[in-house]
Amino acid sequence: MKIKLLAASVLSISFLFSATTLAQSAPDYTALITQAHQKYKNNNDGKVADYIPALATYSPQNFAITIATVDGKIYQVGDVKKTFPMESLSKVFTMALAMEQHGPQEVLDKLGANATGLPFNSGLAVELTKGAPENPLVNAGAMSTVSLIEAKDKTDRWNKILNNLNAWADASLTVNEPVFKSEMETNQHNQALAQLMDSYNSFYGDTREAVEIYTRQCSVDVTVEQLAKMGAVLANKGKSPYNGKQLLNEKYVPQVLAEMAIAGLYDGSGKWLYTVGIPAKSGVGGGMVAVVPGEYAIAVYSPPLDSAGNSVRAQQTIEYVAQATRSNLFLAK
Ligand code: DON
Repeated sequence: MKIKLLAASVLSISFLFSATTLAQSAPDYTALITQAHQKYKNNNDGKVADYIPALATYSPQNFAITIATVDGKIYQVGDVKKTFPMESLSKVFTMALAMEQHGPQEVLDKLGANATGLPFNSGLAVELTKGAPENPLVNAGAMSTVSLIEAKDKTDRWNKILNNLNAWADASLTVNEPVFKSEMETNQHNQALAQLMDSYNSFYGDTREAVEIYTRQCSVDVTVEQLAKMGAVLANKGKSPYNGKQLLNEKYVPQVLAEMAIAGLYDGSGKWLYTVGIPAKSGVGGGMVAVVPGEYAIAVYSPPLDSAGNSVRAQQTIEYVAQATRSNLFLAK
């Protein structure tokens, strides 16, 4: 009897020990991203964006993955040196700046926190709500966000937005001038959206100025590593694990992540949340970032997009890593 008891307790101690070791050991991020890169690099689904002509010049083969952890580690694979324009990814960080300046209630009242159920540049969505953009991540809401940033003048507005992006990326980012020029020449639809909102008093500054600065922020180039570092600020309670700066009030991080969950992938957001369960944001340049609070951010760059404007390989890669690390936020820990 005594021997049986001893054997049982040795067994349970060793079970406990291995469970604790398992719970504590970090996932093998290098192996996971290498597997994902291998698995999806030959998937040629999707189409590189061409409604902004300069974007059509990027190779559909470009493919890079970075994981940035809250303890400041970086894991990466693929074309990690290649830069790409942030496009809609920039919207997240300017929204965070607006939240820092005005607080979450004003962001909710003026920009909203609902899905439009329509494409990211829908004029119909703005018309249906009599000017309310519904959220800061669709084009209408993002331009309205730019108009909300407190600034003395146009130069000051731009400097505040760029300095904010730089701090999040822990880098000196630059505007891709050919992309900016190309987008300025073809942004009549965005100008119309801004004017439509203005006609309903849902715009908080000069429409021409805000559309130009919005277009400039979309044209800022990043690498996948810089994008992952930006995401890691959100994973790390608003504090950059890289430069130690508190860039967003810790209390506002859940609201930024909620906006990403609601509209980060536009009309693909619901399916994304249902299948993967972590907040994410895409850009038509082919970048995408997803955030697992308290753990890591993952950024992927691959230009071919699905019909909603989200990178195909980026979604596959992030889903693969999120599942392997049991990162779905709706799973009990
Ligand atoms: O305003 C636009 O249409 C682009 N600068 C950004 C759109 C975008 O990235 C949508 N994302 N998936």
